[in-house]
Amino acid sequence: MSDVALFNMIINPNIIEMEYAVRGPIPQRAAELKKHGRNIIFCNIGNPQALGQRPITYYRQVLSLLEDPDSIGRERNLRSLLNKAGLASKALLSDELLNTAEDILKKMETGMGAYTESRGPAFIRQAIARFIDRRDNIDEEGIPSDPDKIFLTNGASEAVKFILEMMIASPKDGIMIPTPQYPLYSATIKKNGGAQVNYYPDEDSDWNLKKSMLEESIKDAKKQGITVKAIVVINPANPTGAILSEKSMREIIEFAKEHEMAIIADEVYQENVYDGKFISFAKIIGKEAVPLFSLHSISKGFYGECGQRGGYLELRNPPGIKDHACKFLDVLVKQASVSLCSNTAGQLLTYLMVTPPLPGSESYPLFFKEKTQILDDLYEKAEIIRAAFKQMDGMKCFGRIGALYLFPRLEKLPAGTDDFDYCMALLEETGLCTVNGSGFGQKKGTNHLRIAFLPPKEMLKEVLPQWIAFHNKYVNRK
Ligand SMILES: Cc1ncc(COP(=O)(O)O)c(C=O)c1O
Repeated sequence: MSDVALFNMIINPNIIEMEYAVRGPIPQRAAELKKHGRNIIFCNIGNPQALGQRPITYYRQVLSLLEDPDSIGRERNLRSLLNKAGLASKALLSDELLNTAEDILKKMETGMGAYTESRGPAFIRQAIARFIDRRDNIDEEGIPSDPDKIFLTNGASEAVKFILEMMIASPKDGIMIPTPQYPLYSATIKKNGGAQVNYYPDEDSDWNLKKSMLEESIKDAKKQGITVKAIVVINPANPTGAILSEKSMREIIEFAKEHEMAIIADEVYQENVYDGKFISFAKIIGKEAVPLFSLHSISKGFYGECGQRGGYLELRNPPGIKDHACKFLDVLVKQASVSLCSNTAGQLLTYLMVTPPLPGSESYPLFFKEKTQILDDLYEKAEIIRAAFKQMDGMKCFGRIGALYLFPRLEKLPAGTDDFDYCMALLEETGLCTVNGSGFGQKKGTNHLRIAFLPPKEMLKEVLPQWIAFHNKYVNRK
């Protein structure tokens, strides 16, 4: 077969120009090296199970029963036979687990192999709404979450696609995004032909964000005739790991209200606040009538179920639609309908994420042990890597530890090189695959890298001394 094309097709130039650094040239080179037998540590992406994190037992036990409902009966028969023979075994699934799976299947009605309602099954959306209210500790004054304004999605990525496709109607429609940011946002804006409007949290004051910084960005955008439709906030942040203060959150809400824009609160790392408590935008927004799109996912936290593609989008205070009588929510439902529904395994894992085993239940002790171990381990690994930075010339890392990443600044690089050259050389030398700061956007004249703090501790202990040696040699070369 020949690779010579029969004819040339015009395709969407936005997709040609779109960039996605976390799967860009450095990870591509890493994959090539791996193909040739090199040992590669993939720290370019927050993909915990790819680096050995084990799935939470409870999730997988329930999910496997849901995928193979006949196994529920088989487990029961086995238990009864073993009991009769006086051979009770702890290895068997508990009745509680079997009952949970049966209960879910009953509520699912059509099982795992059928399309569901486009928004996702009502019982899952109701469970999500109750989870949000519990998480945010809403009192009588608080606004409860509305299951009709919740959409189950194939990961948070699909939710971002749904929203931005709806908002970007012309090249002059802008979306404000933090810089640095997770490239899903810049890529989706580009794909839809919109305008990316950067705002810059202050790295030197631990990525602090003030309203004045937002005002500066919108002023520039307005000068270029751009109408900003929404501001994206990633909290805890990817790539910086920064966690917003309540004060900053209130300033963002005030800013959005004054400029009549929506807030897109990407809260996929809400479980990855290691030394404090997560505060959601839904909680802080309270009765303010600012449109809010909040996103969550099964990919991060301690669940790390990236490959199962589950998550949800919760909408509050939907905006009206200019020049049309239809409702925003109805258009969003139509938008979701075009994909028919999100995948059912992802939906069910999202359900399990929002209905964890309760203290006192049989599944709780193991669930709690696994959850705590994963989160403690992540924090410890972040601290180990941060400590290594102290031995690297000109490596500075700001902010608290949040999300799954560290984003140190490279203050010293040989003349004529940048963070891309550094990360590529680091990969070639040590097999450590990181992503250059320029892939996320950064203040002009600065250089960074992002590393996901996911590799097992033993692996870190081996590679960090190599990184330190590489670094000090590289940055001091003449
Ligand atoms: C900030 C942020 N939002 C969204 C996503 C996408 O996650 P999902 O797997 O839920 O699509 C990621 C993935 O790394 C992320 O870091």
